[in-house]
Amino acid sequence: MRSPIPDYLIEVLEGVASNRSGAPAGYIPELAAADPEQLGAVFATVDGEIYGAGDIDAEFTIQSISKPFTYALALADRGFDAVLAKVGVEPSGEAFNEISLESGSGRPLNPMINAGAITTHSLIGSAELDSAERLERVVAGLSAFAGRRLAIDESVCTSELENAYRNLAIAHMLRSHDILTEDPTTVVAGYTRQCSLLVTARDLALMAATLANRGVNPVSGEQVVPESVIRQVLSVMATCGMYDAAGDWATQVGIPAKSGVAGGLIGALPGQIGIATFSPRLDPHGTSVRGVSLFERFSADMGLHVMEVPAAARAVMRSNHVVGTGADAVRVLRLQGGLRFAGAERVVREAVDIESAEARVALDLTMVYSVDDVARRMLLEVVRRLALDGRSVYVVDPESMLGDPDTGDGRVIVVSDLADARAADQP
Ligand code: DON
Repeated sequence: MRSPIPDYLIEVLEGVASNRSGAPAGYIPELAAADPEQLGAVFATVDGEIYGAGDIDAEFTIQSISKPFTYALALADRGFDAVLAKVGVEPSGEAFNEISLESGSGRPLNPMINAGAITTHSLIGSAELDSAERLERVVAGLSAFAGRRLAIDESVCTSELENAYRNLAIAHMLRSHDILTEDPTTVVAGYTRQCSLLVTARDLALMAATLANRGVNPVSGEQVVPESVIRQVLSVMATCGMYDAAGDWATQVGIPAKSGVAGGLIGALPGQIGIATFSPRLDPHGTSVRGVSLFERFSADMGLHVMEVPAAARAVMRSNHVVGTGADAVRVLRLQGGLRFAGAERVVREAVDIESAEARVALDLTMVYSVDDVARRMLLEVVRRLALDGRSVYVVDPESMLGDPDTGDGRVIVVSDLADARAADQP
């Protein structure tokens, strides 16, 4: 069978291809010369499957899409406190190149606007690195997100640097507030080189999928940044990634995202996929016009909005029934799916309702595919309390999801099959 997903992508690209509104970025002359007809879209799943249509291997510069990734590197290298001391996490509601600094401290409002990203660039690696070493850390880090060594487009970089008056103004403001502690010109040069890294839509989808996959590149398997960093990065993308269009984006698309003025656009849907689109004509926010349309379609067609309410927690209770009769009877709570707090709470409730006369209880996790830490602790407590009440408890856990529930009194038996437990423990 042929996968329907590439066909879907082709159909959606055809739907937006006739939209020729907007224009390639004009303030970087080399970008203004881009072929405006280029169009591509890629889905990369968190287990490394890639689906694409259109110009998915055409190279263009990453521009502002570098920002969430360098933020991740800075958080990993310097820690949260050091980065938060210099760059906030509040949406600015202003354009990407506004001098949006906190009054008094001069701290940029967030790392997605240029002021925050220039500062973030200066926080990558240890404080001892010189500018060349820092840039190498940026290139190596972003390359690890992409799963291949990325190169810099020198002509785009030169073109931007020759016209970097606004970023230089921002950097000098940052230096005046001691947010930057180095020469502003050197930091802007490094930041501009970071923005000039060449990527394809395929690279960007994998980079986004690495965010969606807790910092692990789904193809190379490399843990690029610690998992703890990812929630921070995705949160900031969700609230600030689309600048002064962040609210519209949050309501209409609802995927943590970042745009770039070369026409790239990424979205990272936690635990599901990374998405990238490429089309150089931009709207007044500096975001790809067709990219926005594509994401609106993807979100609506595929139910990808992060605020889409998932199936109710009760779905984790597959059944609650008794097998056997008389003294041989076992109350079986059969669970299914992925367990988090709300699902575990359902199990707690079912366990509380078990009659005290029922002496044998089984918690069957055969159909459970994931248990997060909170749910695990709650289920272990259910097992412990059932045993403390004097019952025999069987934990049917063929894939060892729950860990060791041993209460030390032999009342809890872990088995891989309920029939084994019943046979081995005839009263
Ligand atoms: O600093 C700049 O202006 C560019 N290197 C990047 C701006 C950008 O991509 C804004 N996002 N849409």
